[in-house]
Amino acid sequence: MSEHNNEKLDVKEDEIHLLLDHSYDGIQELNHPLPSWWNATFYICCAFALGYFVYYQFMNGPSLNDEFKKDYKVVLAAKEEFRKANSVFNQEFYDKTVSKDGVNNGKVVYEINCMPCHMEGGRGDVGPNLTDNYWLLAKGTPPTIHKVVFGGSEENGMPAWGEILKPEEIYQVISYVMTFKNTFVVGGKEPQGEKVDE
Ligand code: HEC
Repeated sequence: MSEHNNEKLDVKEDEIHLLLDHSYDGIQELNHPLPSWWNATFYICCAFALGYFVYYQFMNGPSLNDEFKKDYKVVLAAKEEFRKANSVFNQEFYDKTVSKDGVNNGKVVYEINCMPCHMEGGRGDVGPNLTDNYWLLAKGTPPTIHKVVFGGSEENGMPAWGEILKPEEIYQVISYVMTFKNTFVVGGKEPQGEKVDE
């Protein structure tokens, strides 16, 4: 330190006390300590990491799998509640939905979701013809159609729409499907299922 010449070293007056005591081939360093807030954050993180490690490694803290199972139970319960509330046909809700917007919204829902399989006007292709008086699963009435649309027939390729569409969309699309009934569109798919006289 003794042979330091501060003028030559070009060290600012208020930084002289930071000058370290060694010299490497004439190069000297200033020691700027880390700000105390930085150190504090670092020590807090270390303490947190230690607690975290001990809790999850040795004290049976819940694993990601446990947390997933817990959350999934909540999801299943909510789904079951939704299914219970919506899987049964509600005539009042159906009437209200139809009187509100006629079949216009139902047509939109049908065109987006159903047309790929049941085709325009319900003449059928992958899915059965909805314009004849033969029915495989439903019986041509809103409650029986609701059951098929809500729950699907997935092993035969009809998706369950209950979890995909909004409850009102299901009622809307049923009202539109009802407009196909017994229209016997020319060029429709051959009849499938049982004849329903009504
Ligand atoms: C991926 C193809 C596919 C889509 C999309 C689809 N369906 Fe179906 N649908 C089918 C098939 C296949 C069946 C016959 C299922 C069976 O035989 O068990 C069916 C059956 C039905 C039936 C019962 C017909 C009967 O004869 O009893 C109705 C009603 C129906 N679908 C309505 C809809 C509505 C409404 C939508 C749109 C929200 C829709 N489907 C979308 C394939 C589809």
